[in-house]
Amino acid sequence: MAKDSTSLPPYFNIDPDAALAELDLPTDTGGFAEIAEACTRGRADLASRGMDEEGRKSLRLFSTWEITRYLIPVAQAHFRRVLKQNPDLPQGQSETEGGAKWFTLDEVLRLRAFFGAQGSKAKNYLPYRPAGQPAKLVAVANFKGGVGKTSTAAHLAMSAALDGYKVLVVDLDSQGSMTSIFGGRVEDEWHTAFPLLARHYGEYLRIENQRRLDRGDAPQPLDEALSAAMDMTARDVIQSTHWPNIDLIGAQLNLYWAEFQIPVWRMQARGWKLWDALTDRLEADGVLDDYDLVFIDTPPALGYLTINGLAAADILLVPMGASFLEFDSTGRFFDMLHSTFASIEDGENIAARALGRPEMGFEWDAVRTVITRYDGAQQGELSALMQAYLGKTLSPHRQDFTALIGQAGEQVNGIYEADYRDFNRETYARGRETFDATYAAFKRLLLGVWRRGELDAQQAAE
Ligand SMILES: Nc1ncnc2c1ncn2[C@@H]1O[C@H](COP(=O)(O)OP(=O)(O)OP(=O)(O)O)[C@@H](O)[C@H]1O
Ligand SMILES: [Mg+2]
Repeated sequence: MAKDSTSLPPYFNIDPDAALAELDLPTDTGGFAEIAEACTRGRADLASRGMDEEGRKSLRLFSTWEITRYLIPVAQAHFRRVLKQNPDLPQGQSETEGGAKWFTLDEVLRLRAFFGAQGSKAKNYLPYRPAGQPAKLVAVANFKGGVGKTSTAAHLAMSAALDGYKVLVVDLDSQGSMTSIFGGRVEDEWHTAFPLLARHYGEYLRIENQRRLDRGDAPQPLDEALSAAMDMTARDVIQSTHWPNIDLIGAQLNLYWAEFQIPVWRMQARGWKLWDALTDRLEADGVLDDYDLVFIDTPPALGYLTINGLAAADILLVPMGASFLEFDSTGRFFDMLHSTFASIEDGENIAARALGRPEMGFEWDAVRTVITRYDGAQQGELSALMQAYLGKTLSPHRQDFTALIGQAGEQVNGIYEADYRDFNRETYARGRETFDATYAAFKRLLLGVWRRGELDAQQAAE
């Protein structure tokens, strides 16, 4: 009996003439421009939804429920009483007469400072950072794409900001996802981290040129671009965001140029320590005093920008999904990290030994892999295996897959920017819980690292 053609797999019996009839003309280079153009128009349409009058992103308000549940954990009645007794404190605004009160994040931070100063000492309303300890730099990296680097970095930055820390986010990915989450505007590479790297190279070249002159050799000229970078500081490329306590060094497509430029500079000046560029510039420009935390989002590649981000980092987070392919490629990522940094150390130390100088070595306060987009029903076994092999290196909290992120539009990114009234309360609470737990695990690491630095400093002073 002949089989009914409807029961055949969909890739059987395709008629070539019908396929041809559906086909459009071959694409030439110009075709890419048309597609890009269509994407730009669609993006602008999406982006324009929910922006304020100036086309800037704005941060939603926070309700009394949310504040007393997540940010200043006190009884709602107590919270209202304190506000009533202190008319100078922000009183919030309500949409309806006698309705729930809503506050801006700035107001929440002021309220928290007040509760921190007046309230119970048992709860630390004010985030801990030991005096004299510099900001901590946190790089989020994995050369595998789509593992949740940007989502993790953005959510951690937002949690830390809600927790009261002053945060700088550095986008080293020319895809600019992080930049668009924080509503950044970046005209060209001169508004990214690029000029900081250029200046670092320029400074090296100046010293090198002095040596050349001393030897009677001709100096290497600083080209126009480098000369322009010599006057630039981190403050020139830092922009504020719709979060009162999150600033941004943004990225856009042109930043990719750095991947070609950096090796050229390095060829011209073999002694230039390109991996130190970002660290040195952020430090020289006082960024480590201005902020508590710096989150660096990196592209899915181990290029020069990523190496700079990794070398700058005190804490390295490596997100990965609990799947065989992601586990496998994350293993190879660590292999590449090892060979990349070991070869830099070897190169430097050969010279150091020859000159009788102390040897150098990279060091990170903490390195953690983080399971992202976790599906407990499917991935329990694999993640238990990953846990068994990675031990302490795997962060104890698995960040659940949640429908709350990835689906929101341009205006709202992730759990912390979403208005909980738009979701089922249960879905919201669960989604928020998993990112709060991701932050809690990170914060334990951070506080441990700061405390270690504090004790070391005390010991050194004795
Ligand atoms: N916990 C999560 N639950 C559901 N979706 C998630 C979660 N984390 C990330 N995603 C989604 O997975 C996709 C990839 O995430 P993200 O962009 O953060 O990865 P990435 O590693 O930064 O990617 P790239 O390598 O391109 O920079 C996004 O669509 C994001 O919304
Ligand atoms: Mg990313």
